[in-house]
Amino acid sequence: MNTYLITGAAGFIGSNFVKYLLRTRTDLRIVVLDILTYAGNLGTLADDIDNERCIFVRGDIGDRRLVEQLFAQYKFDYVVNFAAESHVDRSIENPQLFLQTNVLGTQNLLDCARRAWTTGRDAQGYPTWLRGKRFHQVSTDEVYGSLGKTGFFTEQTPLAPHSPYSASKTAADLIVLAYRDTYHMPVSITRCSNNYGPYHFPEKLIPLIIKNILEGKKLPVYGDGSNVRDWLYVEDHCRAIDLVLHQARDGEVYNVGGHNERTNLEIVRLVISTMRQLMETRPEYRNALKHKPLAADGSIDLTWMDDTLITFVADRLGHDQRYAIDPAKIQHDLGWTPQTTFDVGIVRTIEWYLNHQPWVKQVTSGEYIKYYERMYEHRN
Ligand code: NAD
Ligand code: DAU
Repeated sequence: MNTYLITGAAGFIGSNFVKYLLRTRTDLRIVVLDILTYAGNLGTLADDIDNERCIFVRGDIGDRRLVEQLFAQYKFDYVVNFAAESHVDRSIENPQLFLQTNVLGTQNLLDCARRAWTTGRDAQGYPTWLRGKRFHQVSTDEVYGSLGKTGFFTEQTPLAPHSPYSASKTAADLIVLAYRDTYHMPVSITRCSNNYGPYHFPEKLIPLIIKNILEGKKLPVYGDGSNVRDWLYVEDHCRAIDLVLHQARDGEVYNVGGHNERTNLEIVRLVISTMRQLMETRPEYRNALKHKPLAADGSIDLTWMDDTLITFVADRLGHDQRYAIDPAKIQHDLGWTPQTTFDVGIVRTIEWYLNHQPWVKQVTSGEYIKYYERMYEHRN
């Protein structure tokens, strides 16, 4: 049986990854370590935590004593590090927290793994490692900075981050690679493009737009909406991490993306039209609406659900113009390709939100409301 330490798994991608592993593998035990920031929600894992196959520990990846104690108790085979401050806009507000969690937290995990997994030294003085161990860092395409109109990020693209968030993720990647090169630690890294799907926190573009439409609110598009992101359904990302973790050679870096570039304006327009179509064809979905004006005949009016909801607001500082991943390496080495097309994935995602309004309510009560007011007030 393999034991996994999965950090940050009360958040969006980590929770999807835990569900994916529990569904697709039998002989395993997972320990989730998550401090439960505003972005972490234990309710997301409520059906998964059974204290046998899946155990939850609330704590900080930067807490040396706690992480050492978890390594001693559970003898992890794999560490998959999702834990991070993940929102670019928040990193512009409070960069230091991002360095604390994303850089020092990652380094603490690396060091605890190094102490637990090394057995001695070889003739050159390098540590010798227990077999079958792997530290996997979940990184991002944002480490490469921004592209012009053409070209793609490959694993050879120079690292050139712009935001405090992406700079902190780059620093984390570099320290992971330093442990590989200095101690010969068995590590791997995946750098993925923008994910979408269930359990995405509604501060990020797609779930924020869905939530605002349901409330009849304006849809804030930064700048002129021409920035491009390369969207991947979250389960395809999870499958890529699983493959790299279990099948890639030690020390490798893989880009993950599905050639699905869209401007932000296209995304917002698509979400509006898809939601309206779903509401028109499946009247039960109208139950999710908080804003329900009535037509003259007493039925729920949906004509307001159109592009006039869009409002162009002040741009993000240092806003990267375009991300686009070249996934050739992971396709060639590990046979990974995305399985969910965007047409299918976006409908599935919107339907998930329409069916999970109590989850949205739970994660957006309290701190979220203050965040939204603070973040969007100054943009208008
Ligand atoms: P998220 O914000 O939804 O979740 C982050 C989780 O980490 C939360 O549960 C939070 O409570 C936890 N956490 C934060 N600080 C912690 C700490 N000090 N100790 C323990 N837990 C802590 O993030 P996400 O979107 O799921 O992203 C997960 C990872 O994937 C991040 O490392 C991010 O950089 C990376 N990534 C995200 C995307 C994307 O599109 N969302 C794309 C590529 C890579
Ligand atoms: O590329 C991978 C990255 O994708 C991950 O590393 C990050 O953790 C993740 O948050 C995401 O970063 P982005 O900044 O690309 O995601 P976000 O959803 O915040 O924004 C997507 C685009 O939409 C971006 O160009 C900014 C724009 N945007 C965002 C919000 C929240 C708007 O126009 N309006 C908004 O209200």
